[in-house]
Amino acid sequence: MAKDFTYMVTAAPGLEDIVVSEILNKLPQAWIQAQVRGRIMFVTNHPWEELLKLRSIDNLYLHIAWLKIGQYKADLPHLASKIANLNFPEFPLITRAKSNPRVIVNASRSGHHTFSRFDAAAAALEGLADGHGYAPGTKDDHDLHFRLDIMGQDGLFSLKLTSAEFRFRGYRQFSQAALRPPVAHALVWLSEPKDDDIFLDPFCGSGTIPIERAAYPAASITGGDISPEAVETARQNAPEEVEIRLLDACNLEDIQSSSVTSIVSNLPWGKQIGNDEDIEALYRKFLAETNRVLAPSGRAILLTDRHEELTKACRMAQMQCRALYTISLHGMLPTIFSVTHGS
Ligand SMILES: C[S@@+](CC[C@H](N)C(=O)[O-])C[C@H]1O[C@@H](n2cnc3c(N)ncnc32)[C@H](O)[C@@H]1O
Repeated sequence: MAKDFTYMVTAAPGLEDIVVSEILNKLPQAWIQAQVRGRIMFVTNHPWEELLKLRSIDNLYLHIAWLKIGQYKADLPHLASKIANLNFPEFPLITRAKSNPRVIVNASRSGHHTFSRFDAAAAALEGLADGHGYAPGTKDDHDLHFRLDIMGQDGLFSLKLTSAEFRFRGYRQFSQAALRPPVAHALVWLSEPKDDDIFLDPFCGSGTIPIERAAYPAASITGGDISPEAVETARQNAPEEVEIRLLDACNLEDIQSSSVTSIVSNLPWGKQIGNDEDIEALYRKFLAETNRVLAPSGRAILLTDRHEELTKACRMAQMQCRALYTISLHGMLPTIFSVTHGS
């Protein structure tokens, strides 16, 4: 029987429940061990490569150990010796690593300490060298990448399994207001994709959301934007099953009434639009169109930090608006809303 390992995944703070739902759905028999801000730990016997189908996560790590960490710089030699004495799991990437692999350690730190995260990373590296014969590598040239998350007196030591390309999906051009693909995926996952979905993102920018929707079957997937440059970029990024159109979300005249089963969109918000009246008018017209094109049991999943304007536009369009999750994104706090028919 395949062996259980404990993993840690990171995600934008606020998306944890969505990531847990994706884990439990895609990895039968996995169990959630812990959920803290921006991190989820779970146990599974699925081969780790299969875990890469979790698309709402930023990164995947193999959990190695919880370590007690002191508060003072003088405690760091103990940290180094604890890491030197660790028994690493019999994990393929570790057991198959060449002898004397080159390694790097990144550390994060929250709480009160008299050492910096760089001091902690250096101590961990010392432990890896002394106890395991590992040699220091560089950011661009290493065989294994460890991570030490220090939260108060506790340290979470793990091995990074995903590369930098994972969360950027390797091949994409992003527009200025583009969502990170894992966040776009979380919105798509929340929409509960179905094989017969007629899917629309009418503010698609560089196409991140419809491209993430293409990870699952659908009757049709359309992205649209009012900017010809965005449409051009989205067309270059999108696979062929995604149709990208030049359109005005306030006037969806080419789209039949009650035909769209699922809308997922990152609306213009934050500093992306001139003034409050513009955004109020935009949301009002878009919600009136949403009311017209959305199928009776359809749902719109919308991301914005303009809570008031969205609620007002929904009220005017006689649609029901529910705030689901507030997420932390580049220092801003937009909310994911679910909008359905009925006031
Ligand atoms: C927040 S961005 C979307 C970013 C996109 N989710 C991505 O990841 O690239 C909002 C987009 O709405 C577009 N937009 C603004 N007003 C519009 C309108 N009336 N109709 C359609 N698109 C509009 C802008 O051109 C911009 O690309």
